[in-house]
Amino acid sequence: MQQKPVLIAPSLLAADFGDMRSALTLIEKAKGDWVHFDVMDGNFVPNITFGTKMIADLRPLSKLPFDVHLMVRRPERHVKRFVMAGADHITIHIEAAVHVHRLLSYLKDKKVKTGITLVPSTPISRLMEILHMVDIVLVMTVNPGFSGQLMIDECLKKVRQLKEIKKKMGYNFYIEVDGGINRSTYKHVVDAGGEVLVMGSSFFSTEDPLSEIAYIKGGK
Ligand code: DX5
Ligand code: ZN
Repeated sequence: MQQKPVLIAPSLLAADFGDMRSALTLIEKAKGDWVHFDVMDGNFVPNITFGTKMIADLRPLSKLPFDVHLMVRRPERHVKRFVMAGADHITIHIEAAVHVHRLLSYLKDKKVKTGITLVPSTPISRLMEILHMVDIVLVMTVNPGFSGQLMIDECLKKVRQLKEIKKKMGYNFYIEVDGGINRSTYKHVVDAGGEVLVMGSSFFSTEDPLSEIAYIKGGK
């Protein structure tokens, strides 16, 4: 039995880039909770996606929280423009910035929800000094860069660790999990402590995305 309903964050990375407006409408229809934007710079990760203009252009079309996952080097150079574009959550990689504390403080000051994330090879211990400042911890369960990859099961150990830390320290951050989540893997993620599930290919590449979310929320 699930403790409380999980939140679903469909990722536009797996949508048709020629028709993002329809992709957003589909997320709304399917009762997605957050819209996940995978911003990639071709440097921190080996792929390039989109930037602030797409977020700003989609912003008036939806009231759902825009959950921006920045896979870019030196995120401090870019965050201001993502805030201005209408991001509600900004998640940065611990591996991509040196002055993470300063950056999270800036985002808090701008009333944006703060997120921190880590690639599969980075341990949770890297986050200990800043966990009290974040609203979201995003655990990557694939190496970032592409949708449609298989989940790396070992990463769920970090989800369990975070659940423990959260309970012990009384923190309130969401545990969001990203990569390879589908009908056959989501239960492991939820059992480990995942509270927000990013769904890219399992949402956009299925015949019936609406029932995909209903299925997972139903906890079948
Ligand atoms: C990968 C991205 C993910 C991606 C997930 O770098 O961070 O958000 O969209 O895609 P799936 O769900 O297909 O693994
Ligand atoms: Zn992502």
